[in-house]
Amino acid sequence: MHHFRYVGQNLHCESVDLAEVARLYGTPTYVYSAATMADNYTRLAGSLAGLDAQICFAMKANSSLAVLRHFARLGAAFDLVSGGEIRRVLAAGADVRRSVFAGIGKTEGELRLALEQGIFSFHVESEPELARLNHVAGQLGVKAPVAFRINPDVDAHTHAKITTGKSYNKFGIPLAAAAAAYAAAAKLPHIQVKGVQMHIGSQLTSIAPFVEAVTKVVTFVEALKRDHGISYFSIGGGIGIIYQDALASGQSAWWETQPTDRRPITPEAYGAALVPLLRPLGLKILLEPGRFLVGNAGVLLTRVEHLKRGAGKNFLIVDAAMNDLVRPAMYDAYHEIVPLHRDTTRRAFTADVVGPICESGDCFAHDRQLQEVGEGEYLALMSAGAYGAAMASRYNTRALPAEVLVNGGAFELVHARETFEQMTANEKIPAFLK
Ligand code: LLP
Repeated sequence: MHHFRYVGQNLHCESVDLAEVARLYGTPTYVYSAATMADNYTRLAGSLAGLDAQICFAMKANSSLAVLRHFARLGAAFDLVSGGEIRRVLAAGADVRRSVFAGIGKTEGELRLALEQGIFSFHVESEPELARLNHVAGQLGVKAPVAFRINPDVDAHTHAKITTGKSYNKFGIPLAAAAAAYAAAAKLPHIQVKGVQMHIGSQLTSIAPFVEAVTKVVTFVEALKRDHGISYFSIGGGIGIIYQDALASGQSAWWETQPTDRRPITPEAYGAALVPLLRPLGLKILLEPGRFLVGNAGVLLTRVEHLKRGAGKNFLIVDAAMNDLVRPAMYDAYHEIVPLHRDTTRRAFTADVVGPICESGDCFAHDRQLQEVGEGEYLALMSAGAYGAAMASRYNTRALPAEVLVNGGAFELVHARETFEQMTANEKIPAFLK
């Protein structure tokens, strides 16, 4: 469910007419719905009733300071992956002390910063990383709290580039090697064994792999509680969202039309399947959702530049490109595309919706059926709140997209579009070329 819908002919985010945002701040611009994020958070938290649960928002999905502050105020902690993300949490006025630090290549500087800021726990993925952490903690005269990331060797049935829980993926340590890793960790003077973690992949559309993974490790987790006194189990993120029927899925009426066995994951179903498996552990349970919390809470607004009629194919050339939203180019991802001004009297036509970048991969949709639109009209790429702005680049010397946060009838620019001077501020011509 989300808060994007047509009011009359115009697409709104909550009570804000999106065309107004596009006119005011230009395009490409990401627009986020604060109410949708809050609803997603509250529903997920509610589905975990009966557990001592903490939601750590996987901020790599959307690390806009405004979004971080919003989740912090809702009660979230963060799953972060870099020194930069630690600094973002601090800049948002949020809590590092309840947050966890993931990633397979944390630098000494990042480990030090996290320790200095009192991170809740490090999610460690190898023995060399553990040795480095022990060394850095020793220098600071502290004990580093850790959990190993277990790779349960479960197939998440998602896109190859975002599956992480198979033994051939670079993540975590195999279940078979985990007992020895914990025993070794317990002997290190500057390490405090605190928990266990896993994450099997992203954009999972069925609950079965989550259940399979938890079931596979639960006996080992019990043993860790007994032998090492661990206090928490993080089950990672990965809950998928709806991309195909993104706009319709905002309405409860849409959910009612879906056959129960084909309904996308709801937080209620996720909780109902997992809480009974987790509650008997008597541990604090951490979740690391990224996409679920923000994915359907954001759209990317873009303007039509040209309609180019090719030989047997139409190209709708828009002002957003793969640098603004890389998911279609990178993962063949589907994003629904809708006009900001809906006009049912117009004909439908089929086009490839493409950006202006000189690469064939700069294509948001192939042979997509749309209402006929022309130059200057606006479109929204739906479900772009996760891994959208966060993955944007300046390829082609295109400024990073602007970001706007909507709250009821109000909206504010929370990330201004860059200027050319900002984009090139750290560059210089070397002396020998002057
Ligand atoms: N925890 C860990 C350790 C992770 O690596 C990830 C995501 C998450 C949690 C959050 O997963 P989520 O709940 O968002 O599925 N750029 C890709 C997705 C990459 C996911 C990387 N890891 C995309 O646009 O689909």
